Amino acid sequence: MVKDEMGKMKVALLGATGAVGQRFVDMLNKHSYFELETLFGYSSAGKRYGEAVNWLLPTELPEEIKEKNISAVNTKDLDVDIVFSSLPSSAAKEVEIKFAKEGFPVLSNASAYRLHEMVPLVIPEVNPEHLEVIDAQKRELGTEGFIVTDPNCSTVGLSLALKPITNLYRVEKVVVNTLQAVSGAGYPGVSSLDIIDNVIPYIEKEEEKIGNETRKILGRLENNSFKDYNVKIHASCNRVPVKDGHLENVYLELSEKVDLDEVKEEIRNFIGEPQKLKLPTAPEKPLIIREEKDRPQPRFDKLAGSVPGMSVTIGRLRYGKNEKTLLFSLLVHNTIRGAAGCVLLLAELMKVKGFI
Ligand SMILES: NC(=O)c1ccc[n+]([C@@H]2O[C@H](COP(=O)([O-])OP(=O)(O)OC[C@H]3O[C@@H](n4cnc5c(N)ncnc54)[C@H](OP(=O)(O)O)[C@@H]3O)[C@@H](O)[C@H]2O)c1
Repeated sequence: MVKDEMGKMKVALLGATGAVGQRFVDMLNKHSYFELETLFGYSSAGKRYGEAVNWLLPTELPEEIKEKNISAVNTKDLDVDIVFSSLPSSAAKEVEIKFAKEGFPVLSNASAYRLHEMVPLVIPEVNPEHLEVIDAQKRELGTEGFIVTDPNCSTVGLSLALKPITNLYRVEKVVVNTLQAVSGAGYPGVSSLDIIDNVIPYIEKEEEKIGNETRKILGRLENNSFKDYNVKIHASCNRVPVKDGHLENVYLELSEKVDLDEVKEEIRNFIGEPQKLKLPTAPEKPLIIREEKDRPQPRFDKLAGSVPGMSVTIGRLRYGKNEKTLLFSLLVHNTIRGAAGCVLLLAELMKVKGFI
């Protein structure tokens, strides 16, 4: 372990200039466990971070980070405990496995390895037990390095909302319609001429990701093998002219009649290991229920939670056509709970539990 003088673990960040990379930089500033040591870039390699980045966040970019140089992706002489990755999936495929084989724990937002049979796909409050496959992965790689992933941003919101419901009832079918913010497409992402005054009813590969990833997350790990949760999932994904925050309209079919008050109670009381362990990035409540008829809304609810942006807001929870069906809307901040915040919370959990 390469602790700095404050006793913090050193981290490297792949994709530091991107929409998710910037969230990492912001959330790692003055973090109590981790210190950002190395910034990696691609077209920005060789420049100072302050010069290369188009800083999108309302917070000030810390002076010491502004002055840091961005390195070309390289494991040579790298002296860190953890590597966070916010690379495009195409680059992640090649780069993340290289870092893992060189002995680094890689915690990734990219989709490249999410469905790999030896790679955990984890939301810290939902399926932390899936981390147990890491030892088998290490044996397969023949090193101390490994890859752990977090889900796609829409999947994070959906799986978190489904978890307390699946604690009570068997969910048989999910139909979800998403309205996804432009920051979900990265920076510069979707052209303004395409998205202003418009809705685009297609996001490449997103609908398959929501189905496949949710089934894996809600599933079980048995003898180092993932068994999917058996549920039909139909997703339709739309890009809308909102800066941050994905809204999802969800319809569920369950195997028996549902007690709506019991479901609400279970959601309100839902916590996971991060809350029990009081981890720095854990919101007191991962799920918040609103009773107004017109919430959640991205403008008002994207920064919900005691750690802003780390709670998913659920609203309009009601029966569908009968008492075996439910309807609700949810809102997840895509670059915080849906990306950097989810991985950071995972890193905190993995540190406390001795995985890193
Ligand atoms: N945006 C979201 O809400 C969100 C949510 C969940 C997951 N994700 C996932 O997180 C990842 C990053 O997304 P993003 O939105 O931050 O993308 P982005 O804004 O396009 O940023 C991409 C970053 O990757 C770097 N990069 C690009 N090609 C590279 C290469 N070949 N080798 C090394 N670095 C390279 C870029 O560096 P330079 O600037 O130096 O070229 C930039 O820092 C993606 O896999 C995405 O699917 C995004």
